[in-house]
Amino acid sequence: MYRSILLIASVSVFAASVMVPAKPALTQQFGDERQIQFHVDQREINRGRWSVDQLSQVGLHLFSAKFTLLDGFGRPGATGNGVPTHRNIGSAPLMNRISGMDANSCSGCHNDPAVGGAGDFVNSVFVLGQLTDPVLQTIDPLFSNERNTIGMYGAGPIEALAVEMTAELLATKAEANRQAVSSGQAQTRNLLTKGVSFGKITARPDGTFDNSQIEGVDPDLVIKPFHQKGVVNSLRVFTNNAYNHHHGMQSTERFGSSQTGMDDFDGDGIVDELTTGDITAATIFQAALPTPIQVLPDNRQERDMARRGETLFAQAACTGCHKPVLELKNPRFTEPNPYNPAGNLRQQDVTRSFQFDMTKQGSGARLERSPSGGAFVRAFTDLKRHKIADAEDPFFANEKKPQGGVPLDVFITRKLWDCGDTGPWGHRGDCTTIREAILHHAGEARQSRDRFAGMSSRDQSSIIAFLKTLVSKRPDKD
Ligand code: HEC
Ligand code: HEC
Repeated sequence: MYRSILLIASVSVFAASVMVPAKPALTQQFGDERQIQFHVDQREINRGRWSVDQLSQVGLHLFSAKFTLLDGFGRPGATGNGVPTHRNIGSAPLMNRISGMDANSCSGCHNDPAVGGAGDFVNSVFVLGQLTDPVLQTIDPLFSNERNTIGMYGAGPIEALAVEMTAELLATKAEANRQAVSSGQAQTRNLLTKGVSFGKITARPDGTFDNSQIEGVDPDLVIKPFHQKGVVNSLRVFTNNAYNHHHGMQSTERFGSSQTGMDDFDGDGIVDELTTGDITAATIFQAALPTPIQVLPDNRQERDMARRGETLFAQAACTGCHKPVLELKNPRFTEPNPYNPAGNLRQQDVTRSFQFDMTKQGSGARLERSPSGGAFVRAFTDLKRHKIADAEDPFFANEKKPQGGVPLDVFITRKLWDCGDTGPWGHRGDCTTIREAILHHAGEARQSRDRFAGMSSRDQSSIIAFLKTLVSKRPDKD
């Protein structure tokens, strides 16, 4: 089955050779044990020679390939840290479940309900274990945060929303700054974007800011929708991190000589393991995955129950954080993301960004166009970080290693648009039912959780029934 996916991918790249210069097949030649048969040249993407479908096909291959030493698998001389960090060659085994390399392919973990999706508890990552690499003997939370694999269906719209929201917050900040400097008076502004409040910012006449009232986002005001902690701004940044962390496949844009002064940073004898074009392909594959969708049951009673559950979900104020819809002004996905930090392709590095319309292009269910020419993103999140545990129920405050400066009891509002087919639930994947995850809400969600807890068991089941209609993909389709 694996082999046939690769074959399909290679055939369609050939079929589309009008746009793409002839290149070798994606599949292995008989007897050759390399998974990567050719690399994508970013300059060709900049020239408009690659379509979204072609990039997605190569991206699918790079996402599901079980890399080998011949491709550059492994990082004998580097840790899994996204910030290029050396370790002594020979100090760690090739593979190690806790700090990596912990998998052969991305889809080794992201495969439920299909490639690009979520994962079973057994696929969890010991996040930050890669910094104290190698962690050989313990999964004690002192060394890593055990997190469940989450899916990338709909990740393109999520990144695009974060970009628009960031731009609005930064515009508000810039306007406050101009007013404060010109009027000589401090200016306080509400940080409001798409109906979500990120607190307030005050600009002082001397050009500095009071950031103490900012909520749910870092002081740089860049919305970071990825990681359940909300600490990474783009699929590309995550992808550069993940290839090194999980597979020791180092991208040139992060680990190449322009960044580290070395061609073979991990000392495995292979250079340019993943080119900038390869990373674009892997990113576009994820961004163009189907948009999660609501699938209502055929049975009328069940349908009515799910619809009632949606109303009750709002009545319990779940929608305060799990916003049913946020509207994108521009339905196009743009790569690279304008807020990428150094060590990742940035907008100034390309002559023209790669774009596609998420309401029209990509595979499976597409994003829904809005009457104003934008798009509705029905992801049930506000892309804001919230305190989700308290003394009465510390369940979700179970980690010990702070990530990205975010307090231990704070997580980004989980997207619920794929809740129905991506169990287990909760950031650690240790909730076997949706109900357990809801009942463990505390902190800022306590009132809402208590409303749920106070409902009749039939009403609670209706909310669960509603959440079960939200799925990454239509069964047997996409
Ligand atoms: C060993 C299992 C595993 C492997 C292998 C793996 N991932 Fe993940 N992935 C995870 C887990 C667990 C999370 C959630 C991490 C968190 O919340 O901190 C995640 C999250 C992500 C996210 C963020 C999604 C979101 O909405 O926040 C992206 C993007 C991603 N992975 C891409 C990749 C890519 C690309 C690869 C291959 C280079 C890969 N992953 C390999 C387990 C894995
Ligand atoms: C204060 C904001 C907030 C409110 C209100 C809120 N949630 Fe959440 N929700 C979150 C956060 C944050 C998470 C991530 C928790 C974690 O895993 O760390 C989450 C996670 C979830 C999950 C787990 C999803 C998964 O895939 O693992 C479900 C289900 C859920 N919420 C349902 C609800 C329901 C139902 C309500 C109303 C009774 C509700 N939430 C109210 C913020 C909120």
